Amino acid sequence: MAKLAHAQWSSRMTFVLAAAGSAVGLGNIWRFSYMVGENGGAAFVLVYLACVALVGLPILVAEWLMGRRGQKNPVDTMDGLAQANGKSRAWMGIGITGVLAAFLILSFYSVIGGWSLNYTLGTVTGTFNGGDADSIGALFNGMLASPGELLAWHTAFMALVIFIVARGVTKGLEGAVRSMMPALVILMLILAGYGISTGYFGEAMAFMFSPDWSALDGGVVLDAMGQAFFTLSLGMGIMVAYGSYLGEDINLISTARTVIILDTVIALLAGMAIFPIVFANGLTPGEGPGLIFVTLPVAFGNMAGGTVLGLMFFLLLTFAALTSAISLLEPTVEMLEERTSMNRITVTLLGGGGVWLLGVAALLSFNVWSEISLLGLNIFDFLDTLTAKFLLPLTGLGSIVFAGWCLNRQSVEQELGLSATGITAWNVIARVVAPIGVVVVFITGVVGLF
Ligand code: PHE
Repeated sequence: MAKLAHAQWSSRMTFVLAAAGSAVGLGNIWRFSYMVGENGGAAFVLVYLACVALVGLPILVAEWLMGRRGQKNPVDTMDGLAQANGKSRAWMGIGITGVLAAFLILSFYSVIGGWSLNYTLGTVTGTFNGGDADSIGALFNGMLASPGELLAWHTAFMALVIFIVARGVTKGLEGAVRSMMPALVILMLILAGYGISTGYFGEAMAFMFSPDWSALDGGVVLDAMGQAFFTLSLGMGIMVAYGSYLGEDINLISTARTVIILDTVIALLAGMAIFPIVFANGLTPGEGPGLIFVTLPVAFGNMAGGTVLGLMFFLLLTFAALTSAISLLEPTVEMLEERTSMNRITVTLLGGGGVWLLGVAALLSFNVWSEISLLGLNIFDFLDTLTAKFLLPLTGLGSIVFAGWCLNRQSVEQELGLSATGITAWNVIARVVAPIGVVVVFITGVVGLF
């Protein structure tokens, strides 16, 4: 059974840290930079920013709002709210697609978390010292070609996640997140400083912020929206679950703004750190998922203090990946725990084991299974595309439509604490702007795919 009386976050700060711990992860650094590179730069960045503001912010608020109203896990929250508002219980479906998306994402997320662990060790042992783009690219390709190496790191990363979730000590990580975020920002500034010293910073800034609109097509726009959902941990029930722990006195809109600004600043700084190195070394921005792993080690291998900075960077990245990964496993575990009679350790091992197995398929798609294709994509890309471009936007759309159209006015007013004008603005955004935004992007993108 669902827990009725939930514990609450001790303060707004604690809540912001927990939400930011989920939001800030590989999505901001690894995924953001390779998406920008693959989609030709600035046009993608600007559409992404628009998606974050016009779609991401309202959906984040909507997910927290429903979580705080529903007070249960995402599936039961949707069920309860639908019944309380006289709507079909089929709305539970968006709770289920959310949990499914989290499960699928974690499988390939853990593979990249493993790369990050591997590179943490690589900086310590001096693997990258004095390396150039060619030798570092060769190291990366060597890792991809070795199923055993990928498997070992994926397993290590997933084992850490399972260990932490099984012990239920995720709250204890908040203290660590508190120091991690500022450290990550400082390191990124140092890296951007290194980027300036390469003489290619201007080129990188132009790449990121001066758009060539002719590069814009449905695919780019859908990628930008998918990235907005992915990086903000939206459309997965995760923020709904977090909202259920949220105290009544916390202002949803201003808190969402804080989390979103933090998340966006980290992503933009990552781009400013990575692209100067790309251009200075004649690398291609469209390198794909390996982008940060073939660029940043070149900088660490050649800058003063690079070993220490590299170690700090990959440690922080691994840590950011861990806090996000925990938030990805938690919903599955919580739901199994509440709905079956199995204990926490068993359900974590089951859920985590399933994720691990799917991750093995994802990592094999870089080598022995590279020929296997699903709708023209390898397994890794298929999982990423299915979740970021389809499941997340559709689940997010369901949440905002429900929050905008199905929740009774009184509870929305009470939750948001807005003036009459504020509520009108919220209604326009939640009922019209955000849903239409998602639908238009989705349709243009899907048409572009085929
Ligand atoms: N938002 C996290 C990141 O940017 C990833 C994540 C996605 C975490 C979905 C939880 C849910 O890395």
